[in-house]
Amino acid sequence: MSSPVFILNGPNLNLLGTRETDIYGQASLEDIEALCRDTAGTLGLDIEFRQSNHEGMLVDWIQEAGRDGAALIINAAAYTHTSVALLDALKALSVPVIEVHLSNIFARDEFRHHSYVSPAAMGIICGFGPKGYQLALDAVYDSLMQL
Ligand code: DQA
Repeated sequence: MSSPVFILNGPNLNLLGTRETDIYGQASLEDIEALCRDTAGTLGLDIEFRQSNHEGMLVDWIQEAGRDGAALIINAAAYTHTSVALLDALKALSVPVIEVHLSNIFARDEFRHHSYVSPAAMGIICGFGPKGYQLALDAVYDSLMQL
């Protein structure tokens, strides 16, 4: 079995589908996982899809992705805007990292305009809702295939 693409989700994303649906839409995290499994299957990629509300857990998983993963897609949610610990963990990786946000963080509150994840990411996809995860998987595929 090939190394999976880790897809990590940060705090409060377990509430998708009921949380601020005007911003984040109706899809639940389970819906997004199903979408990712579908897209990954089409691309021939394995995925490891996880969510945590805890910063340290996300740090542990980022390190695991660096050891056992082929690439990392991360929606760090609110930790995007606060976490030097996540940045340090991400900077230690040699696998491709793609940052995803459901909403367009640059069209929202000013404190959301800064990301601690971006300096360690190959690219950032935001504002396209769940489709952003599919776009990220597409980008991971291209990067792994060196397209
Ligand atoms: C988010 C954007 C963040 O600013 C916010 O804290 C989230 C979700 C998004 O996916 O749009 O929790 O990462």
